[in-house]
Amino acid sequence: MDEEATLVIIKPDGLKKSLTGNILSRLAEAKLKIIASKIVKVTVELANEHYNHLKEEPFYPELAKYITGVLHGENRVMALVYYGENAISKVRKIAGATNPEQADPVSIRGAYGRILTTGLFENVIHASSSSDESEREIKLWFGPDEITVVIYETEEVILENVKKEFWK
Ligand code: PPS
Repeated sequence: MDEEATLVIIKPDGLKKSLTGNILSRLAEAKLKIIASKIVKVTVELANEHYNHLKEEPFYPELAKYITGVLHGENRVMALVYYGENAISKVRKIAGATNPEQADPVSIRGAYGRILTTGLFENVIHASSSSDESEREIKLWFGPDEITVVIYETEEVILENVKKEFWK
């Protein structure tokens, strides 16, 4: 099996409950490389794009409130790219089942997740489910200059009249 990349998002409840250290320690058991990481303020546009296959689901409005931080008053998430052999399945195993009540109790979601009375899975982390999804998600959350390994083809584009913020 070739090396592959996978996206992990530590969701707002993970940050609010100071679980990032515990979650990163658990993920370290996979012996993969972290090749990118950042703290992101999730906009509605990013949420809609990330979960674009779920827009018609009855739980989607709550899911959007969750990932954008409205539910926790905490609009930061931590996004990471893990890289290595079987990265997608290794991370999914440590993350546990999507439904926290069905997740192995020693998995991240089993240990820290819960189901809200609205039916929403508050499951602490997102982990890509397939290589097509991981490529789509990584390209959505990170630019090529934010990732330390060249994992996908890039192209050079010359921009004119682009407004960008720099340090003063
Ligand atoms: S999976 O496991 O990622 O392949 O599942 P998928 O169907 O693609 O994504 C479902 C995401 O919606 C979140 N969610 C729920 N799913 C089903 N039922 C309920 N009630 C529900 N509430 C939230 C679920 O956690 C998946 O998001 P992520 O970020 O992957 O956990």
